[in-house]
Amino acid sequence: MAAKVALLSLTFCVAFLATGSADPDLLQDVCVADFASGVKVNGFTCKENITADDFFFAGLAKPGLTNNTFGSLVTAANVQKIPGLNTLGVSMARIDYAPGGLNPPHTHPRATEMVFVLEGQLDVGFITTTNVLIPKTIKAGEIFTFPKGLVHFQKNNGQVPAAVIAAFGSQLAGTQSIGATLFAAQPPVPDNVLTKAFQVGTKEVQKIKSRFTPKK
Ligand SMILES: *[C@@H]1O[C@H](CO)[C@@H](O)[C@H](O)[C@H]1NC(C)=O
Ligand SMILES: *[C@@H]1O[C@H](CO)[C@@H](O)[C@H](O)[C@H]1NC(C)=O
Repeated sequence: MAAKVALLSLTFCVAFLATGSADPDLLQDVCVADFASGVKVNGFTCKENITADDFFFAGLAKPGLTNNTFGSLVTAANVQKIPGLNTLGVSMARIDYAPGGLNPPHTHPRATEMVFVLEGQLDVGFITTTNVLIPKTIKAGEIFTFPKGLVHFQKNNGQVPAAVIAAFGSQLAGTQSIGATLFAAQPPVPDNVLTKAFQVGTKEVQKIKSRFTPKK
């Protein structure tokens, strides 16, 4: 009985540690990603010699181009751009929005996100697992938080461009954009899965799929 209780508390403890933290903790000062290494690990193996440039990135200084379908652009500043972030558990991004632009509903499986509005105004929101929308209008200088794993979006309903700096509790938060995930996966998600899931006909599903087909 006592052993069972101990095992149970250990299980809870491990489960709490696993869910209570972001990326795994550091075992050394730095582990700058060695993209050239063929060794597969959780994250990246460490480079032998490091420089300041491994920790540097100037790519968020300028607005990204928003002349695309959604009228928004995410410029990532994650471990893929800043190899020094490997094992450090944080990253950033800049998101630019044209007037009317949308960062469509998506989730980050590995991180909570905070956005700080640089300019303009955004209507944002996340949706809980009980399908409650938590909406907010945010403007320059303000912050909003999107909890880890929950579906969220940002929409610029203003007349001028908007921009945010986003912070993530992961070196590589990962993004699953709901529309693209379901309607642009390769190989495709079967039509009969999507017709049943969305309670529409095959024509409607194929129409949406065609909108996600990359233009050649
Ligand atoms: C790292 O630096 C040392 C000393 O300068 C050098 O001998 C070694 O070849 C370097 N390693 C790599 C992978 O560049
Ligand atoms: C967006 O604008 C840039 C710069 O003006 C241009 O080079 C690019 O082709 C445009 N992209 C689209 C999809 O229109």
